Amino acid sequence: MKQVKILDKEFKLFIPYEKIRSEVEKMAEKMNNELANKNPLFICILNGSFMFAAELFKRIDLLDSEITFVKLASYEGDKTTGNVKQLIGINEKIEGRTVVVLEDIVDTGITIENILKQLEGMNPKEVKIATLLLKPDALQKQVQLDYIGLEIPNDFIVGYGLDYDGYGRNLIDIYSVIND
Ligand code: IMP
Ligand code: MG
Repeated sequence: MKQVKILDKEFKLFIPYEKIRSEVEKMAEKMNNELANKNPLFICILNGSFMFAAELFKRIDLLDSEITFVKLASYEGDKTTGNVKQLIGINEKIEGRTVVVLEDIVDTGITIENILKQLEGMNPKEVKIATLLLKPDALQKQVQLDYIGLEIPNDFIVGYGLDYDGYGRNLIDIYSVIND
C-alpha cells in the first residue's frame, strides 16, 4: 500500500519494512557486542514499542538477557500532551542491573526523561536508551540516546506499532501524514 487513510487523515508510505528491519538488525548486532556478559534487562515502553521490541529482542543472542514492559502514554491524537501517564509500572528489581530502555520514537524527549528519572531512583548499574526513531527537530530535553535507528523529520507518523488515536499500529511499514 502506498497510501492509507486512518480516521480523518491520509498517510503516505515513508519507511518500508525492509529498511526498518535492517536498522534493527544493525542495532541488535551492536548490542550483542556491547552488552555481552552484562545480564541486561530490556524495558519496552508500551504501547508503541511492542513491534520494535519484538523485532530487536529475537535478534539478541545473549542468553543472560531479560525483557519487561512498562506502559506510558503522552500522546492524544497526533500531539503530545506534555505530561506522561504511567499505566503499568516496573516490578523488576533494577538495583545493580544494566537496563536498556526500548522506545519506538523519541519526539520531545519527555517520555524518556520521565522513565530515566524513575529508573535513577531504583539504583541501576547503568541505563542505556535505544530508540528506533528520533525526531531531532522536536527534541526539547537533553537525553543521551545510546542506540538510534533512524532520524526522521518532524512529521506525524503511524505504523509498525505507532498509532493515530489507537489505529494504524498493525501496518507493517511506517507511513507519514500528508499535510493537513
Ligand atoms: P515524547 O515524550 O514527546 O518524546 O514522545 C514519545 C512518545 O510519543 C512515543 O513513545 C510515541 O508513542 C509517541 N509519538 C511521538 N511521535 C509520534 C508520531 O509521529 N506518531 C505516533 N506516536 C508518536
Ligand atoms: Mg511510545
